[in-house]
Amino acid sequence: MTGIRICGTGSYLPDHVVENEAFTRIVETSDEWIRTRTGISRRHIAEQDTCWSMGVKAAQRAIEAAGVRPEEIDLILFTTVTADYLSPSMSCIVQGEIGAVHASCIDIACACAGYVYALDMARRYLACGDIHTVLIVSSEMLSRATDFSDRSTCVLFGDGAGACVVRAEDVLFATDLGADGTGAHFMFGRHRRPEIPFAGQPAAENQICGIPAQDGTFYMDGKAVYKFATAAMPDTLRRCCDKAGIGLSDLDWVVPHQANIRIIQTAMKKLGLPMEKAWVNIHETANTSSASIPIALDEMIRAGRLTRGQKVGVAGFGAGLVYAGAVFSY
Ligand code: ACO
Repeated sequence: MTGIRICGTGSYLPDHVVENEAFTRIVETSDEWIRTRTGISRRHIAEQDTCWSMGVKAAQRAIEAAGVRPEEIDLILFTTVTADYLSPSMSCIVQGEIGAVHASCIDIACACAGYVYALDMARRYLACGDIHTVLIVSSEMLSRATDFSDRSTCVLFGDGAGACVVRAEDVLFATDLGADGTGAHFMFGRHRRPEIPFAGQPAAENQICGIPAQDGTFYMDGKAVYKFATAAMPDTLRRCCDKAGIGLSDLDWVVPHQANIRIIQTAMKKLGLPMEKAWVNIHETANTSSASIPIALDEMIRAGRLTRGQKVGVAGFGAGLVYAGAVFSY
């Protein structure tokens, strides 16, 4: 199967920046704890924006960078865990807003691995030959799904969007996707009535896995997700390199999901790669779920750090539990 080429990228972060210090006024925490345990200093929080409007802004920048017209887009893949509506899909709203009149539209819910799942899906659609241009949009408004009384999660998340336009090209490209649904209860957020029992769990009023269920906010067992992530990230990148027939040391860049600097450091150590090869922006953005990798890619490209021909490994993991890796030539 042929590979894909990222033709252009875009991203959008809301103007409003919230420093760690602000959380000391609402929960028992400190700037020092957040920085040393997570690597986060600040995050962007949406005020006027919605999930779809952030996605539209990132998409417009990606389309401009790619030099394509909206009518040329055949498919829009939109990844999010914080969609504005149950229906219609975010991809349909983006389609209407940008005037991609010929595009079909699909939303993907693969949490923080969503963007890499979308890259894989784009490649498979493009390989069929009747789709030529795919727009991937990843937008997350995690501030809307955050329990601001829970210090163990509220300091971790931020809002933002990233996007890219991709086309088929015979270049290096390999993916590795997976999931472990038995870990579904390690991170979840619900948007339905709490009395609906969680999968595989006994129904108990307002309880999920023995934990009080709050409508619409995320619960996370940080330690369990941490353990999963530090194994899944290096493993998936190793398998991607094997599939692509390259060595880990051939990678010019690793662009990991930005969830915790310690996860990134551990993964790079396991891969035997220096931290200088990892792109890190978690101090500025916090965890923006599926948007974190495309935001990082756009930053790197606009800063001239990621250049054509360089080999990149991307790896995401998150609620599900899911993981996904890809290696490609930019
Ligand atoms: N400020 C101060 N203390 C805190 C805070 C805080 N914000 N949060 C937790 N603590 C306390 C805990 O209560 C605990 O106190 P105790 O020992 O008295 O009980 C202590 O700090 C240590 O807590 P740990 O949970 O052991 O802290 P840890 O070092 O594991 O860090 C963290 C927690 C940052 C959540 C880490 O486990 C992590 O990053 N996990 C992975 C998260 C992740 O990657 N999520 C990705 C999925 S996101 C998605 O899919 C949308």
